[in-house]
Amino acid sequence: MYTLIDGKNIAAQMRLQIKRGVDAYRQKYNREIGLAVVMAGDNPASQVYVRNKIKACEEVGINSANYCYPEIISQTELEKHIKNLVADDGYDGILVQLPLPAHINATEVLKLIPAEKDVDGFSAENIGKLCAGEESIVACTPNGVMKMLEHCNINVAGKRAVVVGRSNIVGKPMAMLLLNASATVTVCHSKTENLREECLNADILVAAIGKAKFITADMVKKGAIVIDVGMNRDENGKLCGDVDFENVKEKCSFITPVPGGVGPMTITMLMYNTLQAAVLRR
Ligand code: GUN
Repeated sequence: MYTLIDGKNIAAQMRLQIKRGVDAYRQKYNREIGLAVVMAGDNPASQVYVRNKIKACEEVGINSANYCYPEIISQTELEKHIKNLVADDGYDGILVQLPLPAHINATEVLKLIPAEKDVDGFSAENIGKLCAGEESIVACTPNGVMKMLEHCNINVAGKRAVVVGRSNIVGKPMAMLLLNASATVTVCHSKTENLREECLNADILVAAIGKAKFITADMVKKGAIVIDVGMNRDENGKLCGDVDFENVKEKCSFITPVPGGVGPMTITMLMYNTLQAAVLRR
């Protein structure tokens, strides 16, 4: 028997708490919390994510502004806009939706966002603090995974955690959070030899690969906790994760579904981070 980790439900509970935090902030400082969401180009997935981020802001009472620039915007022009947003006292957080158009140097754009307004937790300062175990703004998806584990009373300390995927957005910060919580952490990636054996060691398996149903039942230890960060389309065009859910679930003690697992937590953690950024600024 496995327990389904209901991200949608956990996210809804957290959003109520965040809304209370936002209301308390408004009372205390007599001002609104503001988030600027920047997009360039018309990537359809980004459009959906941005729309959902704006909707979540409305739900918790954060002022949001959505800046959409054309695909052909120049590096200089985009940087000029970002600098203006950084200087705007009304914005506590600035989020640049990735990917940016191919001709834009995203690293240089992101560098313009100071750590205190970096609600994605992508800045060198926030990543450095995470590595040092200091309080920082942490990337939304891995931070959301930790909240899900906490919510399910899963004690990470001493457990073998295997993270599959080493992206800057998910895999690397995920590994660091698990390590900070005293798990024994292995990070696997496309060059890992004997991936199946590595995964079979996992008490906690985090799949952040970006390939539909990549983690199969033969890669999962009986009783494992499986967290699926993937968001893909299967051969029939149906939304699915990086885990072959139907075949893996019976081996698990806990598993997240897709959709309704990690996804709703990611946007909720953006609200959490924006509130945190606003509070840290005061
Ligand atoms: N694109 C995909 N995931 C993310 C994310 O977490 N933050 C930003 N800014 N862009 C993304």
